[in-house]
Amino acid sequence: MFEAHAIDSSNKTEFYRELTSQLGGLLTGERDLIANAANTSALIFQMLPDLNWAGFYFLRADDELVLGPFQGKVACVRIPKGKGVCGASVQRRASVLVEDVYAFPGHIACDSASRSELVVPLIEDGKVLGVIDLDSPNASRFDADDQAGIEKVAEIFLASTDF
Ligand code: SME
Repeated sequence: MFEAHAIDSSNKTEFYRELTSQLGGLLTGERDLIANAANTSALIFQMLPDLNWAGFYFLRADDELVLGPFQGKVACVRIPKGKGVCGASVQRRASVLVEDVYAFPGHIACDSASRSELVVPLIEDGKVLGVIDLDSPNASRFDADDQAGIEKVAEIFLASTDF
């Protein structure tokens, strides 16, 4: 049985090295999409301080994200491509880091407590499959190190999972 171990978050480079190592172990031997997305969101939510939501949206059809496994309060189910921070990430095919969600035009407020957000796209063979979405109740919670770390999480998730 896999057991997640607490990680010192004072050094972000070390933190993400350890987090991605634990994620690799957690996903070893399992390729199911729902199981791996559920455990990945649980590990992120358990390990990263100051989050109020962590989870997945998957691209269904060409132009709509649908809610996947997550940790946090109930969330909006469908997000059109181009809408909100998640839809912007799909459209731009790039991570979107929002220091203050009130300053992001079109931000979709699933939880009014959210103040900052990081969305990383899942891209395989040039195709966007979905996003990983993290929300924090703190403004400016995420920086470039978090973005690089969660992009590595997305890479490991994609390599370990069948869509
Ligand atoms: N805030 C997101 C919507 C998803 S929730 O945060 C879980 C957005 O603007 O796309």
